[in-house]
Amino acid sequence: MADVLVIIGAGGMGEAIARRTGSGHRVLLGDFNEDLLSDSARRMQDSGFDVETREVDVSSRNSVRDRARAAADLGPVKRVAHTAGLSPVQAPPPAILRVNLVGVAYSLEEFGQVVAPGGSGVVISSMGGALNDFDGRTEQALRTLPADELLSIPYLQERPDIESRAAYGFSKRANQLRVQGAAGAWGARGARVNTVSPGIISTPMGQQELAGTSGDSMRSMIENSATGRIGTTNDIADAVAFLFGPESTFVTGTDLLVDGGVVASIRTGTAVSARRTG
Ligand SMILES: NC(=O)c1ccc[n+]([C@@H]2O[C@H](COP(=O)([O-])OP(=O)(O)OC[C@H]3O[C@@H](n4cnc5c(N)ncnc54)[C@H](O)[C@@H]3O)[C@@H](O)[C@H]2O)c1
Repeated sequence: MADVLVIIGAGGMGEAIARRTGSGHRVLLGDFNEDLLSDSARRMQDSGFDVETREVDVSSRNSVRDRARAAADLGPVKRVAHTAGLSPVQAPPPAILRVNLVGVAYSLEEFGQVVAPGGSGVVISSMGGALNDFDGRTEQALRTLPADELLSIPYLQERPDIESRAAYGFSKRANQLRVQGAAGAWGARGARVNTVSPGIISTPMGQQELAGTSGDSMRSMIENSATGRIGTTNDIADAVAFLFGPESTFVTGTDLLVDGGVVASIRTGTAVSARRTG
């Protein structure tokens, strides 16, 4: 029986991760956008991949639980990539929190109950998570609160008018903390779980953000970074392949920042890199 790779979120990064890591696996692709899901599955099947699709809404625990069970019915669940997410230009704060904060927590809880020994899970967070940190009490609550209680966290109760960008940064920092909290339960099953935090990546979401009100500041971040370029979906798929693979068996409960050096340049206040200024 072939091992199962689960991809939750069949957008730009989801399909790239499926192609980079899905050969020889049964690939279960999930997304809440039915058209996008079937287009992605057809492209992958045409390329020879063994792909099944299931609609999933990560903001519903029942939906995520059903898909986790469906994955386990297909075979040993060895690889799980959660890429589903909403960006600040795509959705208002409540939807961002339900999908990016609670949805990831549901995935970690539900797939943490079916992942096979030797398995590995990766959640796609964001460099926004690396640029935000919160008080110790809030961070500990984000690591440990049951998923269904996350929206009642005092930090959010005290900020009923939180804006989309702040909700996004909060949810992405929460993803990084959440894998710290989940590592023990995944470890008890002989599995690992980590986040990858992308910088600005050329996907449908990345392009929508670049076309929005934050576009200029994003272009300036890219220009001032050490690599000076936008990221590709392959950059992210390669990092996920490392975290899925045999060379990372001592890596769990942590984050891998894949941002072309944007956070480093923001933290150090560096302007255009020395390489490009000569
Ligand atoms: N593109 C970037 O520049 C960038 C940077 C940092 C982090 N990220 C994060 O990377 C992840 C992948 O983003 P992408 O760039 O591939 O974007 P994308 O828009 O191409 O893919 C995201 C997918 O998530 C799906 N989705 C949204 N809500 C869902 C729900 N409730 N249930 C199931 N599926 C849902 C969408 O239909 C879409 O297919 C996201 O979590 C995003 O926040 C993206």
